[in-house]
Amino acid sequence: MSESGAATRQDGPLKTTGAARYLDDLRIEGALEGVLVTAPTGPGTVTVDVAAARSAPGVVTVFGPGDLALAGGLDHWALGQNNLPLADDRVRYAGQPVALVVAASRAQAARAADAVVVSVAAEPARADFQRLLAEGTEIEDWAPTRSLVGDPDAGEAEADVIVTGRYTTADRHHVPLEPPGAVARWDGDRLEVWTSTQWVFGVRGALAQALAIEPDRITVRAGFVGGGFGSKGSTWPHEILAAAAARRLERPVRLVLPRVQTFAAAGHQPRTAQEVSLAARRDGTLTALRHTSWSAAAMDEDYVEHGSLGSRTMYACPSIATRDLIVRLDRPQPTFMRAPHEGPGMPALEIAMDELAEALGLDPLELRLRNYAEQDPTSGKPFSSKALRECYRIGAERFGWSRRRAVPGTWREGDELVGVGMASALMATFRFGATAKVTVGRDGGIVVEAAAHEIGNGAGTVLAQIAAESLGAPVERVRVVLGETTLPEAGGTFGSGTTLSVGSAVHAAAEQLRERLSDLAGEPGLTAAEYPELLALRRLDQVSETATWAPRREDAAWAMNAYGAVFVEVGVDPLVPVPRVRRVVGVYSCGRILNPALARSQLIGGITWGIGQALLEESRTDPVDGRFLAPGLGGYSIPGQSDVPDIDASFVAEHDERASRIGARGVGEIGTIGIGGAIANAVFNATGVRVRDLPIRPEHLLGRIDGRAAVR
Ligand code: MOS
Repeated sequence: MSESGAATRQDGPLKTTGAARYLDDLRIEGALEGVLVTAPTGPGTVTVDVAAARSAPGVVTVFGPGDLALAGGLDHWALGQNNLPLADDRVRYAGQPVALVVAASRAQAARAADAVVVSVAAEPARADFQRLLAEGTEIEDWAPTRSLVGDPDAGEAEADVIVTGRYTTADRHHVPLEPPGAVARWDGDRLEVWTSTQWVFGVRGALAQALAIEPDRITVRAGFVGGGFGSKGSTWPHEILAAAAARRLERPVRLVLPRVQTFAAAGHQPRTAQEVSLAARRDGTLTALRHTSWSAAAMDEDYVEHGSLGSRTMYACPSIATRDLIVRLDRPQPTFMRAPHEGPGMPALEIAMDELAEALGLDPLELRLRNYAEQDPTSGKPFSSKALRECYRIGAERFGWSRRRAVPGTWREGDELVGVGMASALMATFRFGATAKVTVGRDGGIVVEAAAHEIGNGAGTVLAQIAAESLGAPVERVRVVLGETTLPEAGGTFGSGTTLSVGSAVHAAAEQLRERLSDLAGEPGLTAAEYPELLALRRLDQVSETATWAPRREDAAWAMNAYGAVFVEVGVDPLVPVPRVRRVVGVYSCGRILNPALARSQLIGGITWGIGQALLEESRTDPVDGRFLAPGLGGYSIPGQSDVPDIDASFVAEHDERASRIGARGVGEIGTIGIGGAIANAVFNATGVRVRDLPIRPEHLLGRIDGRAAVR
């Protein structure tokens, strides 16, 4: 896609001029505004006094526990949590909605919300992850994600070196620029919902179950979505409450969450503790790998972070044992967050690999090459396509890896100790069935329709390119319509799966359309420029084709993953040891890259996200009741411009015809994955201090940097 591959974002001008409309920009005739009141602590039983709030200016009503008559627990898999809001007087976690104020304006609703009196008869909370983990009493084995090949005991017996480490990652929040929000409007028994979501059909299914109506009575529209990162992949309480309140009041209701409420309202990435043990021969060959991950989970809920997933596949090793366990806490349900599973899990494996290299006196890159997996070591399957070796080679070259100093703490520049580190990245490829429709009109304009979502990823632009290339038309002639349940069903925009899945459906529909137009013309090789004349001749206003693409059964013969190799240089001032990322080089293997500029921008975003994981992001919780202590951007740091250096991110040219019809695998999340481990490894190389806990904070380094290295 050389020419159209340069296509710039179709939504760029709209977004940079402010013309793109988001949920809160919608003007819905007669809409009321809702504001939630949340429990200050939990768990326990709540009493809510709404009398004062009900008589506040502008207030239409206040719904308390039980007032909306929602059932207590549901199981639709699109639901972010199974416990429905305002179902009863039970508070399961701090931050849970306990009342909904509906008023003429949001300011009035917010003022009235302050007048709602909430008292929680609190019970002792299971809140202290570390203590419960140490006691072992709350650990549950999540058997479906246990894997074992070979005999790890035997592998360890024949090893020359075994390194074992304990690693942690923090509770993190997605904080998309646009907070979650929804507007619901009923017309008789038909419901229309606008919501900032990554999955309109998921919302439709979940609302149908929660409201006990047929899905075909519900239309869900997303429009532009101002970021989601997984927090909008499921249906959350505010969406259900807006719809239920609108039904009761027979008026449209909008509910947009203030930032502080989003921390308990739409999921988070749960903290993990992980144990990795690597056994190897003197030459670096792995003989056994064990990875156990414990993640924080909610009571009565089902999200599990599979931190050990990547270790099943990353390195060639005859004996691999992985397990994922949970520690249940009184907290809101965690959820998928870019990148689920491998995001928290791979840093543990990659820091452990660095420790093994150190123990063996081997170059960390060389250690990875000696354990390069030519096939999936757990399933035994060949890879659909894998260009990780090239990623290592190109990355090392661009970065200048050969200038690495093997002895930590020996590279000094000005006030800083400088170090380099590297890591591998891996993410399992997620694919889903998708349907798309492509239409050509008598004016030669082409329309692509699919219920995919433009969440800032450039999906619309790429889908336009695919149709344009198939039909031989300029990309400017293609209009893409996304994000509504009135369109062909196309899966959720998550799992880095949109381009490969929906793109394959668009490709199939466009090819079908091209053939049909050639048939109509009675000649093959018709060009797009001839379509208007053909349609006029045949007296047709438009011609459409719809096609579905889905993973084939025979594809199960292949293991499919995105890969990357990440190289990082950090500087650490020993007196003020806040690690600073100086350079990043990342090279990735993701199948065919349809739009290099947009794909690269996904990598830049992902790497930035990983810098946050490594150095900044941590939602601390109260050890007594488990609440998020400082919700909102005042208490949660994400990378700013000064935290992010120039990033050299690129792809290896590849075409994976097994992964998708268009040769692509996933790009959206792989960038987040290698960087965390690479930064920790670079900090070790700079300072000689091995930090196994992310984010790395000054207190991890203060007083631990070797005296000689720290001398000015
Ligand atoms: Mo992503 S966590 O699959 O939205």
